[in-house]
Amino acid sequence: MHNIRLARPEDLMGMQAANLENLPENYLMKFWMYHATTWPQLSFVAEDEKGGIVGYVLAKIDEGDSKEVHGHVNSISVLRSHRRLGLAKKLMLLSQEAMATIYKAQYVSLHVRKSNKAAIALYRDTLGFEVADIEKKYYGDGEDALKMRLNLENMPESQS
Ligand SMILES: CC(C)(COP(=O)(O)OP(=O)(O)OC[C@H]1O[C@@H](n2cnc3c(N)ncnc32)[C@H](O)[C@@H]1OP(=O)(O)O)[C@@H](O)C(=O)NCCC(=O)NCCS
Repeated sequence: MHNIRLARPEDLMGMQAANLENLPENYLMKFWMYHATTWPQLSFVAEDEKGGIVGYVLAKIDEGDSKEVHGHVNSISVLRSHRRLGLAKKLMLLSQEAMATIYKAQYVSLHVRKSNKAAIALYRDTLGFEVADIEKKYYGDGEDALKMRLNLENMPESQS
């Protein structure tokens, strides 16, 4: 019923549309394009039987100043009508696996609104993330973010 696959350049409009519908954090098309072209193995989409984009994960690699390579999930969402079917879990697992195997990322990080119970349950209870820090007033409206992190070094092969 759903197909989950790597995101392609022609998916970016559908990903942006899903993002606009699901989240207040929105980005210009060049931001989507930059991620898809720089780290083409890390972003995935879920499509319905007609090929419409119903969910996505947009991710990148941060090398920073240190030698430690880590992945970062910029955005993930699933259309309301397609939630609680395991799509976000699958999208995250595929991206995490690619970060670990292709880029040898040691961990993956992300930010989530302190009030976002569904996403926190996905990250913490289903995927095993832990809270690494709280970033005060991280979001434009002043809400705090939990900075969450998952070690990828002992990730079981092909969990996804
Ligand atoms: C968060 C979100 C991506 C989850 O997508 P999803 O495809 O419905 O999630 P899954 O079906 O893969 O859920 C996996 C697990 O996450 C947890 N979870 C997901 N939605 C939940 C909810 N509404 N309440 C409590 N737990 C939830 C559950 O543990 C669930 O496992 P279960 O269904 O076996 O109980 C989706 O709700 C969404 O798009 N929300 C709006 C955008 C957003 O908040 N994105 C995250 C920004 S940081």
